[in-house]
Amino acid sequence: PPDISVDNVKAHLQQLQTIASNNGGNRRAGSAGYTQSVAYIKQKLQAAGYTVSEQACPSGSCTYPSNNLIAEWPQGDANNVYMLGAHLDGVSAGPGINDNGSGSAALLEVALTLAQKNPTLSKRIRFAWWTDEEQGLNGSDYYVNAIGATERAKIKSYLNFDMIGSTNGGYFINHVNSATATYLKEYWTTLGLAPEENTEGAGRSDDYSFEQAGIPTSGYAAGASARKTSAQAQKWGGTANAAFDPCYHSSCDSYPSNINSTLLDRASDGIAYSIWKAAVTDTPPPN
Ligand code: PHE
Ligand code: CA
Ligand code: ZN
Ligand code: ZN
Ligand code: ZN
Repeated sequence: PPDISVDNVKAHLQQLQTIASNNGGNRRAGSAGYTQSVAYIKQKLQAAGYTVSEQACPSGSCTYPSNNLIAEWPQGDANNVYMLGAHLDGVSAGPGINDNGSGSAALLEVALTLAQKNPTLSKRIRFAWWTDEEQGLNGSDYYVNAIGATERAKIKSYLNFDMIGSTNGGYFINHVNSATATYLKEYWTTLGLAPEENTEGAGRSDDYSFEQAGIPTSGYAAGASARKTSAQAQKWGGTANAAFDPCYHSSCDSYPSNINSTLLDRASDGIAYSIWKAAVTDTPPPN
């Protein structure tokens, strides 16, 4: 699997910060900052050769009508979809850099790396950037229901990335002991990080929209307003009895101050590791 450049992930975060700063300080769903965030990611994906679409989430489904962004790499079995997503919207209080510029930027850089490496694939890789998560997982819920049962059945798993660069973060995995978590867990375990179940985030991000539809889910998270325990500080470093992200839903959720590069890098590399282990079939070179 490739080593994802954390410098490139951080360059995407810098762009999202600039977009927020130029548009009243936030990227809330339906705002100009959100629309420009979609446009930034979309143009990168189109230039790389992705099949990209925007799905409008209407009033009645989304509190702030605005678009989901879906990108598919046109290789691999279209009936066997390996899907990954992150919400691109933030709250109105701040620029939304860890929540959730972090997951959005990591997925973008993984997608661009996949296009550049262009390996032979057994599965179809589909990426999504969701709107209106902050008002109740609305963009992802709309998508899962709108595509219908036949398309839903093609999605064999969904991996979610929400807050993966928390400054005092930990190594959390949704449904950590499930088959869907296998490669995400394997990567962090190989690094000696002893990941734990994402109890804080259960039912609180877009993976829950897929879970409710019966699709197996997992994902990485570094933690929000909950506090790191002494045991967690001992095994992962950081500050005990302090929040994983002290700027959660605040104006200080900004770039670069509210991003932990080590966590962001290890999550980004683990996402690529999972895609390659799950779907890349390139035979090793003869020796
Ligand atoms: N879904 C939450 C949000 O976007 C993020 C969160 C993740 C909160 C994990 C708690 C635990 O605000
Ligand atoms: Ca890396
Ligand atoms: Zn979030
Ligand atoms: Zn949030
Ligand atoms: Zn669950």
